[in-house]
Amino acid sequence: MIKLKNVTKQYGKIKALDDINLDIKSGEMALLVGSSGAGKSTLMKLLYREERPSSGNIIIGNIDVSSLSDAKIPYLRRRMGIVFQDFKLLPNKSAFENVAYALRGLGAEEYEIQKRVSGALKLVGLLERAFNLPSELSGGEQQRVGIARAIVQGPPLVIADEPTGNLDPATSLEIFNLLSRIAERGTTVLVSTHNQHIVESFGKRTITLDKGQVVSDIGPTTNNHNFAQLRR
Ligand SMILES: Nc1ncnc2c1ncn2[C@@H]1O[C@H](COP(=O)(O)OP(=O)(O)OP(=O)(O)O)[C@@H](O)[C@H]1O
Ligand SMILES: [Mg+2]
Repeated sequence: MIKLKNVTKQYGKIKALDDINLDIKSGEMALLVGSSGAGKSTLMKLLYREERPSSGNIIIGNIDVSSLSDAKIPYLRRRMGIVFQDFKLLPNKSAFENVAYALRGLGAEEYEIQKRVSGALKLVGLLERAFNLPSELSGGEQQRVGIARAIVQGPPLVIADEPTGNLDPATSLEIFNLLSRIAERGTTVLVSTHNQHIVESFGKRTITLDKGQVVSDIGPTTNNHNFAQLRR
């Protein structure tokens, strides 16, 4: 689903990413960790083409993101959902309208909008808050709206940069469980986090960046478990 080949991103003299090679499979959930400045956000920005790599190739599905023309960026972004640390909801629109926004922009039929938005809000457990404004929702609920917005078009890939950075530990775990359920439905999910507890308790593939390089890539523990069973 996601392939990075010898990807380097340089900002002046700073090498934010240094010769990254990665392969993330369809339907896989991977956690991206590493200390502040390690390059996590930079890697994600390359995936949704907020930035271009200085060298190397990035392939998402069958799209060569590194050489994609600017005119085709909307085409790329319709195939991925992006979840932000600060939610980035429209403050004067209801949860429903936040989730519906891109569909309306694409000129979808009203019945289609109703069906898709209700489905997404139901999946994140927020159907009963559909007509509340973001300011009337808790942080965790706002992030669930952010996730509903990310999945409403059924993208094969969801990218979340520190989605729980503003949330307490219990709410963070709920959000990670939700992302995990989305991955189980076949969506590829890439999430960055500083939350060591989640990394340890979650048992997902964990890619660690340090100074722009991949220094470890381990798990998921479920596979280790299978491996142990195979050896028996
Ligand atoms: N637009 C930019 N211009 C110059 N340097 C940048 C730019 N964006 C990022 N950097 C540098 O690239 C490096 C990686 O930054 P990045 O934001 O990817 O780190 P991060 O792992 O997301 O950190 P954090 O955990 O704090 O979010 C840092 O040294 C940062 O200062
Ligand atoms: Mg970051």
